[in-house]
Amino acid sequence: MKKEDEIMKEINRNLYFDNAATSWPKPEPVYGAAEIFMRQMGGNPGRTGSTRTLEAERLVYRARAALARLFGAPDPARVVFALNATDALNMAIKGIIEPGDHVLFTAMEHNSVLRPLGGLKRAGLISATMIPCSGEGVPDLDFLEKSFQPRTRLLVINHASNVCGTIAPIDEMIAVAHRHGAYVLVDAAQSAGVIPIDVQASQIDLLAFTGHKGLLGPAGTGGLYVRPGLDLKPWREGGTGSFSELDLQPESMPERLEAGTLNGPGLAGLLEGVKFIEEVGLQQLRKHEMELYAYMRKKLSSIPGIKLYGPEAPSRCTAVLSMVMEGIDCGELGYILESAYGILCRTGLHCAPLAHRALGTFPEGTVRLSPGYFTRKEDIDYLSGALEEIAALKS
Ligand SMILES: Cc1ncc(COP(=O)(O)O)c(C=O)c1O
Repeated sequence: MKKEDEIMKEINRNLYFDNAATSWPKPEPVYGAAEIFMRQMGGNPGRTGSTRTLEAERLVYRARAALARLFGAPDPARVVFALNATDALNMAIKGIIEPGDHVLFTAMEHNSVLRPLGGLKRAGLISATMIPCSGEGVPDLDFLEKSFQPRTRLLVINHASNVCGTIAPIDEMIAVAHRHGAYVLVDAAQSAGVIPIDVQASQIDLLAFTGHKGLLGPAGTGGLYVRPGLDLKPWREGGTGSFSELDLQPESMPERLEAGTLNGPGLAGLLEGVKFIEEVGLQQLRKHEMELYAYMRKKLSSIPGIKLYGPEAPSRCTAVLSMVMEGIDCGELGYILESAYGILCRTGLHCAPLAHRALGTFPEGTVRLSPGYFTRKEDIDYLSGALEEIAALKS
């Protein structure tokens, strides 16, 4: 069996092109903050009035306030913490839907949207219509306009595709949905901390985000922004440390949707992730990722046998590039990249089967390359060199 330090050496040798799955590495203070929370703080936010507990509660509030600032939310209390984007999407969908409702969703949605909707459909509670997307992953706005029904309550939009990075025109889509009296849930799993989001300017009703991708925080963190005035049915009920005499969930936010002990160490790390984004500046982070995307696309497009998906212009997508290589299965290519070159990526359907149907890559899927803030141009040179070698061997 390999010793732990041998395994660590191997891991650290890797070139990480899988930031769309989870960002790595994290900014240094993220690790430290989670450890300090566990070692030195240790209180349970909102439970009892000890100094430690109050300190933990203040930290959670600072994380909430930082996210509200980042998303332009009018009130931190409207940012509800969850386990991840999946949890937040379930909270939103199951909290807003009434039996008999109709829901619209785009072909780019992740299984964290498709499966909750599928479950509600199979239970006979809702009907749902998919908005088709182009071969580049752009939703069909004419189809959207014609798809509303009298009971359409919700439109779900994937803000940035986890398959090919395509950014959806959310402002236009939200305007259409609101004109038809529907609410809009934006899945910001791939866009939070990556592209600017202003929930008020874009009139977003519900925004689901995850903490461990572009926000650079630890796994087990995420949340849901709920527009003021919009009340969701709580889909998880339990202790909040407040109104304990009642056997019903408090009406005040965020407790209404936030039962149970919060992930204090995770939120301490997430706060540092958001602070890092604020310090570097979202525009600067975006500029860096756009440069990496353009560079990677240019290098890979010159390799014979490689087909690239998604938009060519970096302004229309995040730094997530899907590709296939002629004559080689995606899984095999991913395996060679890791075992022979130490390059980590993700292969297959990326939990978004309908997106692959839109792109024409179903059922094999693609090899997904997603650099992050800490990726360097030299890493892309190394990646393209590796792909060139593999392509030459295969031809
Ligand atoms: C577009 C999209 N939505 C939702 C999710 C789910 O995020 P999480 O795994 O944090 O629940 C992901 C994760 O890959 C995603 O890419």
